[in-house]
Amino acid sequence: MDKFFFISILGLLIVAHGVTGNMAFDSIAMLEKLETFDIGEVDDTELSKVVPSWTSGRGGKVLVNVDSFGAVGDGVSDDTQAFENAWNTACTTPKSVFLVPPGRHYLVNATRFKGPCADRLVIQIDGTIVAPDEPKNWDPNLPRLWLYFSKLNGVLFQGNGVIDGSGSKWWASSCKKNKSNPCRGAPTALTIDSSSAVKIKGLTIQNSQQMHFVISHSDSVRVSDVLVSAPEDSPNTDGIHITGSTNVALQDCKIGTGDDCVSIVNSSSNIKMKRIFCGPGHGISIGSLGKDNSTGMVTKVVLDTAFLRETTNGLRIKTWQGGHGYVRGVLFENVAMENVANPIIIDQFYCDSPKTCQNQTSAVEISEITYRNIRGTTKSSKAMKFACSDTVPCSNIVLSNINLEKDGTEETYCNSAQGFGYGVVHPSADCLSSHAKNSNVIDQMKISELFETSTEDIIHTEL
Ligand SMILES: *[C@@H]1O[C@H](CO)[C@@H](O)[C@H](O)[C@H]1NC(C)=O
Ligand SMILES: *[C@@H]1O[C@H](CO)[C@@H](O)[C@H](O)[C@H]1NC(C)=O
Ligand SMILES: *[C@@H]1O[C@H](CO)[C@@H](O)[C@H](O)[C@H]1NC(C)=O
Ligand SMILES: *[C@@H]1O[C@H](CO)[C@@H](O)[C@H](O)[C@H]1NC(C)=O
Ligand SMILES: *[C@@H]1O[C@H](CO)[C@@H](O)[C@H](O)[C@H]1NC(C)=O
Repeated sequence: MDKFFFISILGLLIVAHGVTGNMAFDSIAMLEKLETFDIGEVDDTELSKVVPSWTSGRGGKVLVNVDSFGAVGDGVSDDTQAFENAWNTACTTPKSVFLVPPGRHYLVNATRFKGPCADRLVIQIDGTIVAPDEPKNWDPNLPRLWLYFSKLNGVLFQGNGVIDGSGSKWWASSCKKNKSNPCRGAPTALTIDSSSAVKIKGLTIQNSQQMHFVISHSDSVRVSDVLVSAPEDSPNTDGIHITGSTNVALQDCKIGTGDDCVSIVNSSSNIKMKRIFCGPGHGISIGSLGKDNSTGMVTKVVLDTAFLRETTNGLRIKTWQGGHGYVRGVLFENVAMENVANPIIIDQFYCDSPKTCQNQTSAVEISEITYRNIRGTTKSSKAMKFACSDTVPCSNIVLSNINLEKDGTEETYCNSAQGFGYGVVHPSADCLSSHAKNSNVIDQMKISELFETSTEDIIHTEL
């Protein structure tokens, strides 16, 4: 859309509607920023040449097959050393392909695969990589890691392979499963840390010990066609967890686990999710943030087109009492829900602790949150819940075209939440306090036209 046109409409709106206009301006301006953010591109044309060139032996690709380094792939033999040796060769050789061939199961211990590597590394996973299943034998020096990649730049992970954490014994030993177990962390199946321009395409990550896939302290990461799967009752098995990262795009991912399908936490910005299927699981979450009085900041998150089925939450923002920082500029749109408990929820009283959490005066501030075109069925009567801090209210919550149904008992809960709805909003969100109340009536037509136009722009922004 023509930016000048957009901005001039905003100008008219503000002039015409005073306070109301300003409120709309804040939200709409944020949307405009959201729709124009770009994520860094990995060079697709370069990358797409990779597979044909190594299979045909042309194109100067150097194939580094783990089998050539002594990997056995029988699911029993320890292939850790073979993977490490193959990595050292692949990482130091330009244009190499680290290959985990199809049809076999490679047993690999917790391992750090460190960069930086030579140019244009491809990690081609077609076989299955399995973790040893016994927590007692896990390397005590790497208690939270299994396959950990760091300092990569311009790397492509791809293939039809499987990363399998063999997590069932870890789950059984979790304090969430049995209160007499000590509460301690378990490994993350796949971590990409301190990296940039990384693309991950087509892998399956399953039965992780704890979180499945963590993207940390990285920039420009693009994840597509990834499948994440673990049982509904596996504890803390988040699907994709993003922390300290910017310009991350997730698209066409199908995630079903025992915790959040996606969780986005501190120091993350410009996160775009498109065509996400979630369920079972705890929904798509921003947070938790602010635990133990910490500071958490998340800005510019867009979810466009998602289907959530039988999840315990839908679109969630969760923060602990006593935190600092903010969540600002979030757009959830075009989401269908089927039998979801808490389809839309902001919870500033999040408390995932055995002790009850006391209310405090500080909280992570939540503002500029837009929900648009959200429909489906809710399992709980609280179809929408905006539970915001008494001292740090939520502001500029915008709802448009919402229809969440149960059996007529569906309702919206608000505490200290400011914002407005327009168009169809069911159940009604009259409990949101609006700055507009004593001011001019919002010009519904104009605002909705603006939103319609920007919706199209966002939908047409391909990842
Ligand atoms: C993998 O872990 C097992 C169990 O702790 C250990 O015996 C083995 O030496 C490890 N393999 C390597 C290559 O470190
Ligand atoms: C919980 O763990 C304790 C101690 O390991 C064990 O005795 C008990 O049977 C476990 N309970 C369940 C329900 O598994
Ligand atoms: C959040 O990120 C900021 C900036 O990177 C950092 O200073 C802060 O310690 C982080 N908070 C937590 C809880 O890790
Ligand atoms: C957080 O701050 C509150 C209020 O100052 C204090 O009572 C509490 O002990 C702090 N909690 C932690 C974990 O530091
Ligand atoms: C904290 O404040 C909220 C909102 O006022 C209230 O609903 C909740 O009961 C309070 N919790 C505690 C532990 O005092």
